[in-house]
Amino acid sequence: MIIDLERCRKDTPAVTELLHFNNAGCALSPVSVTCAVIEHLQLEQSLGGYEAANAASDKLKLFYSEFAKLLNCSPSQIAYVENASRAWDIALYSINWQAGDQIITADNEYVSNYLALLHLQQQKNIEIVLVPCDDAGLVDLDKLRSVITPRTKMIALTHVSSQRGDIQEAAQVGLIAKENGLLYLLDACQSAGQIDLDTQQLGCDFLCGTGRKYLRGPRGTGFLYASIGAIEKSSPIFVDNHSAHWTGPKSYSLSADATKFETWERNIAGKIGLAEAVRYANELGMANIQHRVSKLAKELNNKLSLLESVTVLERSNYLSGIVTFQKKGIHAASLAGNLLERKINTSISRQENAQLDLAANNTGDVNRASLHYYNTSDEIDLFVNAVAEC
Ligand SMILES: Cc1ncc(COP(=O)(O)O)c(C=O)c1O
Repeated sequence: MIIDLERCRKDTPAVTELLHFNNAGCALSPVSVTCAVIEHLQLEQSLGGYEAANAASDKLKLFYSEFAKLLNCSPSQIAYVENASRAWDIALYSINWQAGDQIITADNEYVSNYLALLHLQQQKNIEIVLVPCDDAGLVDLDKLRSVITPRTKMIALTHVSSQRGDIQEAAQVGLIAKENGLLYLLDACQSAGQIDLDTQQLGCDFLCGTGRKYLRGPRGTGFLYASIGAIEKSSPIFVDNHSAHWTGPKSYSLSADATKFETWERNIAGKIGLAEAVRYANELGMANIQHRVSKLAKELNNKLSLLESVTVLERSNYLSGIVTFQKKGIHAASLAGNLLERKINTSISRQENAQLDLAANNTGDVNRASLHYYNTSDEIDLFVNAVAEC
């Protein structure tokens, strides 16, 4: 099946007004997502918040069943969390870390994740072990194997980083984690919604993501997947009357499924909106989405590379919708500003937020164009011309 582009663009009205190449920042939601959120807010206004949530119980159940379909898991393995950073932290802090425990990560790690690791290092005296990406932009799997010791407890990997669009070999890392009995935390914030994710194949214990990026959901929404083993073994750092049950004056029990990572109070309209966004993606088919996004990314990568003044940063053959680049003679922020004046949305990745990657090579800030399936070849041509002119 191929994607019905005309329908998708009709469902995304802003595409007639602007060129949205900032899907890795925040994608445009389909109309049905925005309507689902607004309808629920109106229901809250007319019925009351608790009463509206009860009335929407079927829509809320959809959140779990649609994510289960998206990630090939059970609905009971999904938790609603407000964003990817918090979901990643919830997973990290649910482990009983002891001084000297090692956690392996790579130099493409996301800024907030790495900050959390530095924080944990300071709090618990754990050791961060860094594996570099090779010349092709991918985590060096031999090096990864070679740094595992009896003290290693977890591998944390960012599937697609914020500052480079190369897709890491996440399933291979899952095999290495399994062979060595290690926990595996996968940041799928930039991959969920553009790459067909199968948690069984990936072999991860935890996988986190956000709603607003490639999933096209509302802002302030996200999710956490946990394997059955991880749910059983992990202990959330915070509990409330949703994630735990007060069974007697001196006793409590934790929820038996992934709701042990949730909080009772949450953005119900946002959750309904994200459920609709995932339903929309499932209906289009993640394999179809992935195919189209990578085809468009290759096209943009090739066309930008033809400009003499432009250097494209992606180095692998596994391209996601994220294309990062620099143009000679103009700072990334100025170029993004000039493009915005032409109603072209992009973003920049700051060197400061990639200390182990951009800063290590003194690359400087870089421009980031990120495509989704609703973008077109015509838009790519307009974009490349604009970059040449700005
Ligand atoms: C790779 C990656 N991980 C995590 C995050 C954090 O997501 P959130 O802002 O939803 O916490 C981002 C955000 O840009 C990201 O690019």
